[in-house]
Amino acid sequence: MATEQTYVMVKPDGVQRGLCGEIISRFERKGLKIVAMKFMIIKKETAEVHYGEHKGKGFFDSLISFITSGPVLAMVLEGDNAVSVCRNLMGKTNPQESAPGTVRGDFGMVTGMNIIHGSDSTKSAEREISIFFKPEELVSYKRTADVWTYE
Ligand code: RTP
Ligand code: MG
Repeated sequence: MATEQTYVMVKPDGVQRGLCGEIISRFERKGLKIVAMKFMIIKKETAEVHYGEHKGKGFFDSLISFITSGPVLAMVLEGDNAVSVCRNLMGKTNPQESAPGTVRGDFGMVTGMNIIHGSDSTKSAEREISIFFKPEELVSYKRTADVWTYE
């Protein structure tokens, strides 16, 4: 089993639209383990580091201004292949192209307000988790439901 951790974040539009509970619930019911969670407004400098790979692109400034425009719900989720499992639950970057049943497919209309972020690789996950969480904020525990989730 390839147990991974991934960084997932309900963006300001998702928080303002009251979707935090719905989104957490989807990941929980899927079988992912919540390892850490934090509610915060991201500082501009932190957002620029988090989205550093997009610096210089046309949408960078609006992306930074959007992601810092209100509170976000940040979390670390763990499970077998957690990175790709979470990306699949999120849907494509453009919500109009996201499949129904995904978070973006069910709730979003435009790329600039696509409700949720998720790490795109285990390397990004490690980097992003370390930006938003201290190692001691990651909670280590056994999820009893795992006995009925994994063979
Ligand atoms: P995210 O990083 O937020 O999880 O989204 P993603 O991997 O699906 O997409 P990514 O390519 O990393 O882009 C990051 C965010 O930038 C905005 N974006 N706008 N106007 C555009 O062409 C464009 N492309 C990307 C989106 O809000 C996207 O989530
Ligand atoms: Mg991305």
